[in-house]
Amino acid sequence: MTDSTAADWTFRAANVTKTFGDLRANDAVTLEIRPGEVYGLLGPNGAGKTTLVKQVIGLLKPTSGSLTLGPYDLVDDPDAARQLCSYLPQAQMPIDSFKARQVIVLTGMIRGGDAAAVRKRADELIEELDIGEWSETLGTRLSGGVKRLVGFAMVTAWPGRVVILDEPTNDVDPRRRRLLWQQIRRLGDQGSSVLLVTHNVLEAEKSVDRLAIINDGRLIAEGTPSSLKSEDRGRMRLQLMVVPGRPTPEMPVFVENHTRVGNNVMTVIAETDSAHGIGWAQELVGLGVIEEYALAATTLEDVYIRLTGHTSEDPTAEALA
Ligand SMILES: Nc1ncnc2c1ncn2[C@@H]1O[C@H](COP(=O)(O)OP(=O)(O)OP(=O)(O)O)[C@@H](O)[C@H]1O
Ligand SMILES: [Mg+2]
Repeated sequence: MTDSTAADWTFRAANVTKTFGDLRANDAVTLEIRPGEVYGLLGPNGAGKTTLVKQVIGLLKPTSGSLTLGPYDLVDDPDAARQLCSYLPQAQMPIDSFKARQVIVLTGMIRGGDAAAVRKRADELIEELDIGEWSETLGTRLSGGVKRLVGFAMVTAWPGRVVILDEPTNDVDPRRRRLLWQQIRRLGDQGSSVLLVTHNVLEAEKSVDRLAIINDGRLIAEGTPSSLKSEDRGRMRLQLMVVPGRPTPEMPVFVENHTRVGNNVMTVIAETDSAHGIGWAQELVGLGVIEEYALAATTLEDVYIRLTGHTSEDPTAEALA
């Protein structure tokens, strides 16, 4: 990724619209990612995230709008797009007849990497993602999560100027997810522009420089995690664990909004109503309506839910990936 030229390698999507018949899967999406920046794209199922990233590498053609990387027009020049961009698709990579390390090295070399440098980087990635015990295992015998990590190593052993990762953490266990987030951050630190699609709002918050929320094909919010949360400053999240089988308790007037997922009811209240909130929750515990409660600062997930009306972790997303 070292390049001494002064060219501006900013990735730009300008007014990208993609329609499938009557459906506007992307609606005038405009965003920029500078070299070294990790940019998260969040949004509910069917929001248009994969549609957008597929257009970057020429798998789909925009109905209108432009996608450029530095001096290159990625729509008119799909060969340049494939050369300059690395892409981890949402679906698993077809690597059945290859061994893990072998396919990581091969992909890095196909992407133009020097053989010795790619081997070295492949070995580092295998170690840093802690998948060494499977490095000589055939693709057909790899578990879903390990296959995902191998896919990540394949596309990043010799990364492009833009690295596109479509839900890279799916199926990966919590400890290796943490290792993966470190590697994603490192891609940015080494100078790639990283476009990261994820449902994992809370983990993304810690690793991205900026993020956008997309809903029904449109970008509805963009900024740094803290700028997106700033509108929620002064608000608290009061979480109630409802006793299984009990209905959602009636909300007092000071509750600004609430969502229920399973037995977990998340309410948002003003910080100044914290004492009221705790008093109410204690009363509900006493009445046997809830088992427990917690009061905490709002997170990016609360912002996400407020803006999209969806919870961030939709179990069907992982099941279908
Ligand atoms: N080839 C296609 N033909 C017709 N409709 C499509 C096609 N690909 C995607 N769509 C539709 O476009 C919309 C956006 O789909 P997309 O795959 O981009 O969503 P997503 O944000 O990636 O969702 P998820 O989080 O579930 O992966 C959906 O309504 C989807 O059904
Ligand atoms: Mg998708």
